[in-house]
Amino acid sequence: MSTRSSFVVVANRLPVDQVQLPNGDVSWNRSPGGLVTALEPIMRRHDGAWIGWAGRTGEAAPPFSMDGIHMHPVALSQRDVEEYYEGLSNGALWPLYHDAVAAPQFHRHWWDNYVEVNRRFADAAADVADDGAVVWIQDYQLHLVPAMLREKRPDLRIGFFLHIPFPPQELFMQLPWRTALVEGLLGADLIGFQLPGGAQNFLRLCRTVRGLRPSGSQVEYDGRIVRVQAFPISIDVESIEDIVRSPATERRVAEIRKELGDPKHIILGVDRLDYTKGIGTRLKAFHELLEDGTLSVPETVMVQVATPSRERVEHYQALRDEIEREVGHINGDFGKVGLPAVHYLHQSYKREELVALYNAADVMLVTPLRDGMNLVAKEYVASRPDLGGALVLSEFTGAAAELRQAYLVNPHDIDGVKEQLLRALHVEPSEGRRRMRKMRRHVHEHDVAHWARSFLAALGVTSAL
Ligand code: ADP
Ligand code: G6P
Repeated sequence: MSTRSSFVVVANRLPVDQVQLPNGDVSWNRSPGGLVTALEPIMRRHDGAWIGWAGRTGEAAPPFSMDGIHMHPVALSQRDVEEYYEGLSNGALWPLYHDAVAAPQFHRHWWDNYVEVNRRFADAAADVADDGAVVWIQDYQLHLVPAMLREKRPDLRIGFFLHIPFPPQELFMQLPWRTALVEGLLGADLIGFQLPGGAQNFLRLCRTVRGLRPSGSQVEYDGRIVRVQAFPISIDVESIEDIVRSPATERRVAEIRKELGDPKHIILGVDRLDYTKGIGTRLKAFHELLEDGTLSVPETVMVQVATPSRERVEHYQALRDEIEREVGHINGDFGKVGLPAVHYLHQSYKREELVALYNAADVMLVTPLRDGMNLVAKEYVASRPDLGGALVLSEFTGAAAELRQAYLVNPHDIDGVKEQLLRALHVEPSEGRRRMRKMRRHVHEHDVAHWARSFLAALGVTSAL
């Protein structure tokens, strides 16, 4: 399959995972993220291509089509995974961009490999993109691709969207490769961030590291105008509401409450097991409320879903130990036979199960120390057409800028988290409904299709919308 496409998405991961069958054959599992749902209609209309890694090391599978999208797997070797993915992407950029809540590490051999792999993605995009095509590059793993691609293919219209926070100059300047990273993004025609603050941080850096003179939301570079704007990402609200409405979900919600011992209150956390998510903070708050007798088991239980993530990276291993120790501590002190205080689930779930959990939960606790957006918060709101439930949300998430009726907390202030958690648990039903209604209106009007349309319109793509 060697057709070229007029619309190309480039992301570290493909929207499908490669699975090796026992007989040695390869099969593909869809991993239905919001991004692919939002882009699917546009991809279909434009013979869209998606360039990304299939999640296994070794040779890349040949290109193939699935659900109207041309998939182009990119190969990553074991070394690439260690240096480009676990190293520079998740050991340097990820922690630094999240306020350095864990110490970033800077290794030159990681950087060399990051450059090499970014070039591989750029080369793949240059091969696949048709004359004058639109190429949309995603996230911090591919920071250098816009400039590399522009050099090879000046005819393309290039967009870049950063899904994670973009840090203030004071932090970014630590990076030994700060100039290359800024120049990498400047290869795009449009650079999107989650929040206006990220866009401003980037424009300020253009002045500091390259002596450019931004004007409003744009900057002239290399004889071109580069636009820099915020586009807060969102979720596929409709698909969540379809799940909520199904009788199977209704049955499962009742079952979950029963399985948890029919408690009066269920507190829920759903996150990748990542040190940015503030899982320790919420466990500590819950622990203290049990300790001082404000809450008790089995009237109140907590469910913490912690999806396995980046398990070979040191900070993640340390975090897992810390969280599991704290869960053991709480359950040892406050659990009863058959009735733990914290139900800790280190597993991946189907969307249907997550939506059922969201529906069963009286309070959703979202307490990241820093998060670009936090889609879980929006999914919780989308899952509550009954207007039940309450959301406790960290001020340091992108979502907090939109979901103003949540119980906002500073996750560094444990007393504040405890206070807001109690307010959320004891909210008057009419007040709870009022808050949920407002947040629901917001996510309805700002779903992921709206996000994709806004970005592409700013990139000058109107025919596909
Ligand atoms: P991040 O992108 O940092 O992981 P987000 O909250 O923005 O955080 O997005 C996480 C996504 O992963 C959400 O769509 C959420 O539904 C999904 N998710 C989280 N935990 C699980 C899990 N255990 N199983 C399956 N999907 C999960
Ligand atoms: C965040 C990043 C994504 C990444 C996802 C899962 O949402 O912004 O780029 O794909 O986490 O992490 P992983 O390392 O498993 O791809």
